Amino acid sequence: MVELARAPGAPAARILGLGSYRASRVVPNSEIVGRIESSDEWVQQRSGIKERRWVAEGETLRSMAVAAAEAALQRAGLVGAQVDCVIVATVTHMMQTPALATLVALDIGTEQAAAFDISAACAGFCHGVSMASDMVRAGSAAHVLVIGAELLSEFTDPDDRGTAFIFSDGAGAIVVGPSETPGIGPVVWGSDGAQYDLIRQREDWRDVVRTDAPVVPHLVMQGNSVFRWASFTMAKVGLEAVQRAGITVDDLDCFVPHQANNRITDAMARAMKLPDTVKIARDIIEQGNSSAASIPLALDRMVAEGDARSGDTALLIAFGAGLAYAAQVVVVP
Ligand code: UT7
Repeated sequence: MVELARAPGAPAARILGLGSYRASRVVPNSEIVGRIESSDEWVQQRSGIKERRWVAEGETLRSMAVAAAEAALQRAGLVGAQVDCVIVATVTHMMQTPALATLVALDIGTEQAAAFDISAACAGFCHGVSMASDMVRAGSAAHVLVIGAELLSEFTDPDDRGTAFIFSDGAGAIVVGPSETPGIGPVVWGSDGAQYDLIRQREDWRDVVRTDAPVVPHLVMQGNSVFRWASFTMAKVGLEAVQRAGITVDDLDCFVPHQANNRITDAMARAMKLPDTVKIARDIIEQGNSSAASIPLALDRMVAEGDARSGDTALLIAFGAGLAYAAQVVVVP
């Protein structure tokens, strides 16, 4: 039998650039709570959210993803033609096929880069980070763009008390490329299909078209069950990612969990016994929960505000529908 050639991979992979795009319309709690018999105080106390970003006229999932990708490329000092693969993590692309990533690859000027979407809900971005790191090390690609992009306002039922105040719109992106030393630690990831129903589309598309007044299928969530699952089990996953990176929590500079709920963030930080010196992402306060976009948006804010600096170690941990989760330690570009 002939022996096939090995692809020459890089010794390690790291994040070369980070960028993000926030939907431009600022939507305060006061605009949401009237329809769901809630209050600004309740939403802030229970979730941490003061306001969220929703798209304005002219902003689309595609335009947000492209803007975030271009910002990440610029920070990496690269151009679109140097990108070999585009991965978009999203659950709000309105077309089942083709993938949004193919349009992003076109818009940013790649030379027909490989492009595909992944569906791992709020955990999608961290899944993409892991895949990109593996691809660069295995020699499948030299530069991979990983984008988390969501337009959740369209999938949100404004009359649903359990979700109307939570979800938001935006995009965040990184470029992953070759490195001499590891800048992306081993992933810890998994899923639990037994809890498939805890966060999901209320109807599938066939149910939607059968109704008299079809609407975009809204997301529904058994919030408190997800809250308890995330608060109690995700800390263990985070600690495992720290351990697999060969460091301890004392070596961490930043903690960037999926921006689902400030109380979940607090519970995880307590359970992991993070030192007080670790800077914690709180982007949810002004952005809401933007699912796959939330971690790169939160990290980019920390960089902009000086809470994360180049060379810092950051623990990323994402969790959501599926119930899917993924965590890794990365070095801030
Ligand atoms: O991104 C994917 C991952 N998503 C998450 O991780 C989200 C996780 N879940 C959450 O963030 C929280 O569960 C919520 C913020 C959604 C809700 O907070 P909670 O502390 O779990 O509240 P709850 O559902 O247990 O409800 C507590 C009380 C109930 O009243 P009683 O039974 O105590 O009288 C609810 O009826 O609050 C009531 N309630 C509300 N009150 C005002 C439920 N929703 C609302 C509301 N406004 N919107």
